[in-house]
Amino acid sequence: MKTKLVMLFILIIAEPCFAQERNFRFNPGKVWLDDEHNVINAHGGGMLYHGSTYYWYGEYKQGKTVLPEWATWECYRTEVTGVSCYSSKDLLNWHFEGIVLGAEKTDSLHDLHTSKVVERPKVIYNSKTKKFVMWMHIDSADYSKASAGVAVSDTPTGPFTYLDSFRPNGEMSRDQTLFVDDDGKAYQICSSEDNATMYIHLLTDDYLKPTKTFTRNFEKKYREAPAVFKHHGKYYLLTSGCSGWDPNVADIAVADSMLGEWKSLGNPCIGEEADKTFYGQSTYVQPVIGRPDTYVAMFDRWKKTDLPDSRYIWLPLTFEGDKPKIIWHKDWGF
Ligand code: DGJ
Repeated sequence: MKTKLVMLFILIIAEPCFAQERNFRFNPGKVWLDDEHNVINAHGGGMLYHGSTYYWYGEYKQGKTVLPEWATWECYRTEVTGVSCYSSKDLLNWHFEGIVLGAEKTDSLHDLHTSKVVERPKVIYNSKTKKFVMWMHIDSADYSKASAGVAVSDTPTGPFTYLDSFRPNGEMSRDQTLFVDDDGKAYQICSSEDNATMYIHLLTDDYLKPTKTFTRNFEKKYREAPAVFKHHGKYYLLTSGCSGWDPNVADIAVADSMLGEWKSLGNPCIGEEADKTFYGQSTYVQPVIGRPDTYVAMFDRWKKTDLPDSRYIWLPLTFEGDKPKIIWHKDWGF
């Protein structure tokens, strides 16, 4: 009896130490742990669904946050560490796959040098070349380079080989995302012309470069943080305004084709602090596979003076007729 009691006691006390962290609900803005009890570190991220697995790529932010001496605006920064990757079967429980594109520590001229800016990585799969292609915002510390960088890998979990950076069609590219349409055509969507106008570039068949086909959208409207998805044959583009790391009001626009005319539908956010996007900034919208008409809208809640402690706001995106809405929930699940 005594032995049984001791064993029961050990099980009750020790079990939580051996148990894997399991998440059952989304808790926007709260610290989110991976399956090894570490805080998930994938900011400005994007998602890829491949081989029945979700992959979440993002900026791995580590170390001290500083405001450079020369700063004329609040360009708080951390040194570049690289792009992280997490995998999941259910969007709630994530396994760290590592840093799939690491920073360059010695060559100070390299795009990935710790002193530079590497933001908003997105990965798509090219079924013709069988390559995983990553595009990201590459910049100098003062954000004057305004370019897009491209890296490739044979597997979703890397390592990715960095190829080059450039200004797509000779135009600036800062906040950016990628979208692959059902016909296999891929697009890069980016804030250009000093963030005043959003460009959509049709990519080459190998997804490594822009073609000469592109459109200028929301001219002089200063939109950034783009996230694109397709619903019932229409294309939706979620964006933020431009206010550095501080929150502002979101907008969602709709179009009949990626290179067509985009029409604003206004702010899709509903609930307390909806005019500040719940203190978040959009980064991606992920369709939930196997659940038609169900989407997860991903936002970053930046903590500008301690960027590694920035949090994630993931919320359900639903439709009322043709109008998308994102309602605040402090706790939710599927
Ligand atoms: C807003 C952008 O969306 C972020 O990715 C980052 O570039 C900050 N600006 C820098 O202030």
